[in-house]
Amino acid sequence: MTQELDAFHAALAAHDDVAINPSGNTPLDRLVDQGRRNVLKGGLALAAIGFFGGGISACRAVADNGLLGFKGVPQQFDPAFDRVLVPEGYSARAFFSWGDAVLADAPAFKGDASETWQDQLKQAGDNHDGMHFFPFPDAPDDHGLLVMNHEYINPTLHTDGIVYVDGKRKVEDVKKEQAAHGVSVIEVKKDAQGHWQRVDGSRYNRRISTLTAMTLSGPLAGHELMKTASDPEGREVIGTLNNCSMGITPWGTYLACEENWHNYFINRDQADYAQRVSHWRYGIAKDGVSKNYGWETADPRFDATPAADQPHGGHVNEPNRFGWVVEIDPFDPTSTPKKRTAVGRFCRECSTLSLGTDGRMAYYYGDDTKGEYIYKFVPEGRFDPANPAAARDLLDKGTLYVARFEAGGKGRWLALVHGQNGLTAENGFPSQAEVLVNARAAADLLGATPMDRPEWVAVHPTSRDVYVTLTNNDDRGSKKPVDAANPRPQNLHGQILRWTEEDADPTATTFQWEVFLLAGEPEGAKDEAGKPVPANLIGTIKGDAFSSPDGLAFDPAGRLWIETDFDDEDPAMKRIGCNQLLCADPTTREVRRFLVGPRGCEITGITFTPDGRTLWINVQHPGLSYPASDGKSRPRSTTVLITRNDGGVIGT
Ligand code: FEO
Ligand code: CA
Ligand code: CA
Ligand code: CA
Repeated sequence: MTQELDAFHAALAAHDDVAINPSGNTPLDRLVDQGRRNVLKGGLALAAIGFFGGGISACRAVADNGLLGFKGVPQQFDPAFDRVLVPEGYSARAFFSWGDAVLADAPAFKGDASETWQDQLKQAGDNHDGMHFFPFPDAPDDHGLLVMNHEYINPTLHTDGIVYVDGKRKVEDVKKEQAAHGVSVIEVKKDAQGHWQRVDGSRYNRRISTLTAMTLSGPLAGHELMKTASDPEGREVIGTLNNCSMGITPWGTYLACEENWHNYFINRDQADYAQRVSHWRYGIAKDGVSKNYGWETADPRFDATPAADQPHGGHVNEPNRFGWVVEIDPFDPTSTPKKRTAVGRFCRECSTLSLGTDGRMAYYYGDDTKGEYIYKFVPEGRFDPANPAAARDLLDKGTLYVARFEAGGKGRWLALVHGQNGLTAENGFPSQAEVLVNARAAADLLGATPMDRPEWVAVHPTSRDVYVTLTNNDDRGSKKPVDAANPRPQNLHGQILRWTEEDADPTATTFQWEVFLLAGEPEGAKDEAGKPVPANLIGTIKGDAFSSPDGLAFDPAGRLWIETDFDDEDPAMKRIGCNQLLCADPTTREVRRFLVGPRGCEITGITFTPDGRTLWINVQHPGLSYPASDGKSRPRSTTVLITRNDGGVIGT
């Protein structure tokens, strides 16, 4: 079983980041307070209070003590390490695991993966990833909705793993996998003893999956490029998938992002594939089976080979309907999720908000593939806290930009707008629809900077400085030259960049950037034989060593939390240990290790209560012996609740 899992994870890791870029391109403040009060009055979404975190009081509370007030934890190298290690004075509790009941009539987790797909639709999905806590206004630090992504599935979803019979998957198995993808919404509340509990059977509890109908919204809704045999209108998509990280809006909605959707599709027509930019530029499979689970062998919607005898070519356009932002109102369990298409299509990690004092905003996106780009979307409208209902469709109109990081610390946002910068019919972009669907190809043309796998973006709660994780890139120096922002060949450990938009304006088109840190081993590190470690593995961290930053978020007081995602079986990681959560002071750049996860896991997803006293993180695909929420030893992705034993603010 271990070998099977390892092989599966290795296969996933091998193809979710394959470089396919062919180009040669080298205080959230008073307004928010006012806005959330009005949003609440207007009843648009109860969520709004405190969704930016704890604000000023928490900020002051820690400023007196210095930002990093906890005792760091050591690296863990034991191949059998099976715990979540937190600092002295803190507790970590498994809170919500794959298979836990979400809907009122969900069966209890059976333990042997014998659940049907209908059962799975009522239970927590697999591979918990990005998440957010939306507080209720009556008790924002004690009561709210926890919303999280379920990125993909492990073979442990089934009693017998991933099985093919005569080259085909079983329909029931594929449906169970589709049911285990998507999003969970669960109500959570402190009990009379002050302990956080899940509210069983809450009317807010909801599962959204690859089987949930959603509306296509924005410029591509109803467009030719979105029409398929099963949706001839091009306006309704069934499902979302590979939801990695996320974002929130000022009006209190959740943004689930679609990351490695290309792994679910195949186009076997080699001639068609070669000329179809919307397929090859994203790395859709062209022979064998689709890269992840061979769904197309049981669900024809995932076979994007053109079919001349079917309306709209069968499902050749189905891949165009993934790679977007899905907006969900967690406080309205009957609402239909909307796929927003003005934001461009790529392998979107996240959708991170920066809100200006005048209500103008930006959403930042990483495209997590080797040598891909960083984007931002600037809505045309402003968020008007006095008129929150008008915010409903703000994500349908605006300008998409891609980043160029120039040597010397200057950066530019290049507009991906039809008719500008060569994005014309002669160059393959007859309208804005093609620019959005083929955003990567449009960005190639503009000379955007290929990055070392952009993952999460975080925006400082008061300065609006923007930080991004570039997780790693073992092709740097071979397929793409090194440059100032991606300075290491064979970059196995990754880096964090930061920038300041001109005048701290989220909508600016120029910025100043710098490398915040290069991850890796300390200066002078030696290997097991006593030899100096190669230069490409040496970082610039002031403090605790780590590799492959991925999750990234600020807490209410402005501490930067960094989550890691690397293969801890990889020999290059043998001096790094298991995956971790670290905390950085953005001013001093000091980094301290806060948490180490069980062997085999990724640490991802992070959210706080507004008072900063409760922290949830996700342990994704842990090794075989990590006890889940039922205390039993079975590998289950799990949300972990972290509190300080004295009830204090986390990190101080
Ligand atoms: Fe799903 Fe980019 O990690
Ligand atoms: Ca990630
Ligand atoms: Ca990652
Ligand atoms: Ca992952």
